[in-house]
Amino acid sequence: MKTILCIGAGYVGGPTMAMIAKKCPDIKVLVVDIDAARIQAWQSDRLPIYEPGLAELVKATLNKNLFFSTDVAAGIREADIIFVSVNTPTKTFGEGAGRAANLQYWEKTAREIKANATSDKIVVEKSTLPVRTAEAMERILHSGNKTVHFEVLSNPEFLAEGTATKDLETPDRILIGGHDTESGHRAVAALADVYAHWVPRNRILTTSVWSSELSKLAANAFLAQRISSINSLSALCERTEANISEVARAIGMDARIGSRFLNASVGFGGSCFKKDILNLVYLCQHYGLTEVATYWEQVVTMNEYQEDRFAKKMSSTMFNTVAGKRIAVFGFAFKADTGDTRESPAIRVCRYLIEERAAVVVTDPKALENAKKDLADLAGKITYEPDPYKAAEGAHALAVITDWEDYATLDYKRIYDSMVKPAFIFDGRNCLDHKTLFEIGFNVHPIGKIPLSHL
Ligand code: NAD
Ligand code: UDX
Repeated sequence: MKTILCIGAGYVGGPTMAMIAKKCPDIKVLVVDIDAARIQAWQSDRLPIYEPGLAELVKATLNKNLFFSTDVAAGIREADIIFVSVNTPTKTFGEGAGRAANLQYWEKTAREIKANATSDKIVVEKSTLPVRTAEAMERILHSGNKTVHFEVLSNPEFLAEGTATKDLETPDRILIGGHDTESGHRAVAALADVYAHWVPRNRILTTSVWSSELSKLAANAFLAQRISSINSLSALCERTEANISEVARAIGMDARIGSRFLNASVGFGGSCFKKDILNLVYLCQHYGLTEVATYWEQVVTMNEYQEDRFAKKMSSTMFNTVAGKRIAVFGFAFKADTGDTRESPAIRVCRYLIEERAAVVVTDPKALENAKKDLADLAGKITYEPDPYKAAEGAHALAVITDWEDYATLDYKRIYDSMVKPAFIFDGRNCLDHKTLFEIGFNVHPIGKIPLSHL
């Protein structure tokens, strides 16, 4: 039986390996992590991450052909193929701080693989990495080593949180980058065979290692760019009485543009978009491509502008002050169907409101624990309330930050009756029924649309 190891049991490593285990009963799948609590959680009924369908997926394979452990060295010795799916956050110190990827966790795994491998291995870059990282990985793996051969492949992950199991089961494509050598071709074929257990061969794309590494950064940059583009126009809509939903529909019907990823919002969040664009920006700067770097950096600048614009609009609409006012923040996760709050627009919006001395109460069905960690320095200044009705009680305004489906079907008459008047709703996702809310009595402020105001 073939053994696959994944180093890093996070949002990518856990779900991806669970899917491989389910689809490949002939393969033993080991997932290791240095975080013992995380490993323990994967083996329990309370998984370390929330993702629809994931609990069932893990349950179906756990301890059959899917195993979680903290013994990284033993896993390396046993495996034929080693996926590396450790975190690659933005560097916060030294050269490239705030832009470059922090590769310290990555490099550590390379050294661990080298120290423990006793037979040839295929090493797969699953993490998102700067272009040409595989070159550095190969150098480390082969330094002072003549006996074991390591073939490094790039196989970036395109899953989105909230839809991870679906994305893994029916991916748009699987991308595998390998070297144009005999051992490179063999390794690419071996990895393609794993995915071919359930992904049609014509969706398994093979390229050079460098194209594969760059394609991952490029895909995220293009997706984020669409959101920043539509968000930039939402600001213009608010000045000109054009409606951003109508504009998005009109342009999205052009088959060349396409309709997806054109929802104007309070801003994009998530652990990937900002980090990966800044990584791209840093790479361009490194290669002296200043104009290219500036072009992509603007996507992030526009996103921060949109988050700030939303927060400031709340204050200016509410008679230029939120001080002492109770504001119920509906949703802290960076998108629906996840408990993940990394880079959530809610963080910036809440910080602004607290700075302006508002009494902030945050509600979210899955993300309150993470919210408390993100805003730990504001402990005592923010209230956390799982029940949205209680959160809204006595509030002057609701700010919808996450598009949780449940928020569209709440009893807004009941909520309105419990709020201070005039009552405001700032819909940062355009996910509520604005006309009905207005008829109930709310002053409704969407993104990129004319406000519905009784004042
Ligand atoms: P994560 O932080 O959830 O998980 C990474 C895990 O790696 C952590 O549990 C950490 O303890 C572990 N780790 C770090 N160093 C280790 C070591 N030396 N040995 C063993 N374990 C170690 O991160 P994630 O969200 O899963 O992202 C992983 C990579 O995948 C990143 O490069 C990210 O950019 C990329 N990616 C993420 C997503 C996403 O939606 N989250 C999607 C596509 C790609
Ligand atoms: C993204 C990529 O989609 C995925 O391919 C990659 O592997 C990881 O990064 P993720 O960040 O999990 O996935 O979620 P995504 O659905 O892309 O949403 C990112 C952010 O953009 C969220 O805050 C979301 O609410 C926002 N968004 C998305 C919009 O504001 N408008 C849209 O039209 C789409």
